[in-house]
Amino acid sequence: MEHVAQHRSSEPQTIVRDTTTTITINESENKNGNQINLKIDELYIQEKNSSFTSSNGASNDSVSLAWRNLSYAVTNPKTKQKTNLVHEASGVVKPGEVMAIMGPSGAGKSTLLDVLAGRKNPKLTTGEIYLNGKPGQVKYVSTYVMQEDALMGVLTVRENIQFAADLCFPSSYSKAERKARVQAIITELGLDRVADSKIGTVFVRGVSGGEKRRASIATQVLTLPKIIFLDEPTSGLDAAASYNVMKAIVQMARNYKLTVVASIHQPSTETYSLFDKLCILGRGRTLYMGKREKAIDYFKTLGHVVPAYSNPADHFLYLINSDFMTDRTQAEEHITQFSDSFENSDVNKLLQEEINTLIEQHKETGTRIISSSTTHRYQHSFLQQTMILVRRSFLNAMRNLLVFWVRIILYVALGLLIGTTYWQIGYNQANITERLSSEYFSVAFLSFMSIAGIPGFLEERLVFQRERGNGFYSVGPFVLANTIISIPFLFIISGSFTAVTYSAVGLHNDGKNAILFIVYMFLCLNVAEAMVCFIASIIPIFIASLAITAFANGFWMVFAGYLVRPPNISKGWKWAHYIDYQKYSFETILYNDLKGLNFNCERLNDTSSDRMYNCFYGDKSGRSATFTGEDVLNELGYTNIRPALWTVILIAMAIIYRLAFFAVLRLRKNHS
Ligand SMILES: Nc1ncnc2c1ncn2[C@@H]1O[C@H](COP(=O)(O)OP(=O)(O)O)[C@@H](O)[C@H]1O
Ligand SMILES: [Mg+2]
Repeated sequence: MEHVAQHRSSEPQTIVRDTTTTITINESENKNGNQINLKIDELYIQEKNSSFTSSNGASNDSVSLAWRNLSYAVTNPKTKQKTNLVHEASGVVKPGEVMAIMGPSGAGKSTLLDVLAGRKNPKLTTGEIYLNGKPGQVKYVSTYVMQEDALMGVLTVRENIQFAADLCFPSSYSKAERKARVQAIITELGLDRVADSKIGTVFVRGVSGGEKRRASIATQVLTLPKIIFLDEPTSGLDAAASYNVMKAIVQMARNYKLTVVASIHQPSTETYSLFDKLCILGRGRTLYMGKREKAIDYFKTLGHVVPAYSNPADHFLYLINSDFMTDRTQAEEHITQFSDSFENSDVNKLLQEEINTLIEQHKETGTRIISSSTTHRYQHSFLQQTMILVRRSFLNAMRNLLVFWVRIILYVALGLLIGTTYWQIGYNQANITERLSSEYFSVAFLSFMSIAGIPGFLEERLVFQRERGNGFYSVGPFVLANTIISIPFLFIISGSFTAVTYSAVGLHNDGKNAILFIVYMFLCLNVAEAMVCFIASIIPIFIASLAITAFANGFWMVFAGYLVRPPNISKGWKWAHYIDYQKYSFETILYNDLKGLNFNCERLNDTSSDRMYNCFYGDKSGRSATFTGEDVLNELGYTNIRPALWTVILIAMAIIYRLAFFAVLRLRKNHS
């Protein structure tokens, strides 16, 4: 384990875990390397015992957050008018404090939160943000808790948190240490009672909404990042659940001296009283920013007394509400009045002084704040990340009815349907069409059924999105894990499907051919699955990706070469035939079955002529009693089947879809 030391005159040294920097670099940076390294080791042990590092490897010290004259402006592309979604905001939140950003919806709460967290376009942002009184990159010491819960429904609360812990703590933490950390956060967030209950899915009843929210928060704040941002952490919860969520957050902030900023729409009186600081926004303007207890007094000086026994939060929102003012300028003035009053208030003066003092103080001490160069991105190697994800996906798939068992059952049912419909098809020429149909249907319908994987994929994608946002792992391991986990699963599907279908229909009666049938079925499903992942990653909306995948598979069905035989496909659509994975799957299966088989012609009863047989294929002179499978292939236009090459093409197609899937996720990254 290597460390980078940072000097500080008044406070203990800050340690940053850095697995990407080597010891030699450290020593060359520190002239008296030995001495310093010794100190670092002592501190490292202390730090490790307390087990608190941010997900990005930041230091153990608390970080205060201050901002001054922060604005975020967007330009309306039509009118070219510039609007400040956040206007000249200033504020301070100190370690152990929780600040609530309040205001009607559309006030700019999320925007301010995003700007503070460094998640908004820096080009549109003006003003300064200070960490411990120094300009700094908030990203590296903070976590942003997403509004929606992203958890694996079939895993328990503990399992969900444990996997997050495995991903976000460096390998230097032993399994026992990680387990202890998980237990600690479970207790911290009051989840002991439900720790071993499943989160819940549409099939399985799970924990309550409040517990789910707390579990979701737990997976994101495991590492106790110095600053935590939460966007409406209580939305969708009732008053009691909201209170419990907020209380857990507040307690954590107090215990570990974390700096917390949360936006909240309409807190109950109890929840409201948990906050230390309040930032009330209206149309992007600050209407109040300061201590929560002082807010009532402040509004009193403006002549607005909060009535006894009423919820102050409700009352403030009521005061600044301009939604029902029909006159736009009147509404504007209403807000401006409040913001002007605040700007000229003593509260604001004190705030500005506080920020100035903070900056002055730290000018002298010369604290350096963690920057991107001293932190590293991931706690595990590419391979380790992949393995953890494979383990989780495996557990998820095995437990997930929708992802796994329902699909297996559907495929087997489909196999039974085909097996019984085309029961013992035999070798008479009259049944050639049915033989081909059974094979085409197997390919087309099984491919089609891969849409059943979409809901499970979308759930995993949501979890992936959150975890990547928190810097747990990159796109590569996710895509690779997803690919690896699908392989045994698709083999099980192809195998069980073949088991119930192959001999029931009476396809090429030979062990080798049966095994090849499984392989070709697998190759086909492998491409279908990769295509589903690709489409669902472009359009991560259930109904939409369902429709598009269905369309795509319908399209491939048409050009597979059965509904229209290859020679008869019109010129304009030939290209579709050649990029159709179902073509290659169908043709290999067809070839595997027909090659080497002999079929019987119809025997004629008319003995007068020397035409004894009527053959649909092969020798039609009437003297041959049989024809071969090759005759069928040739006459139907499947003249150029090359199983080895087709296999390579199918594998290549799967790889291309997976790479495209990777590319989509990678490009999405740069959006936020
Ligand atoms: N990129 C954007 N361009 C233009 N307007 C935006 C953009 N993002 C948000 N807004 C507008 O800014 C206002 C504040 O949005 P938001 O911060 O999400 O409010 P809140 O979280 O308080 O409900 C809203 O009126 C919203 O429509
Ligand atoms: Mg919002």
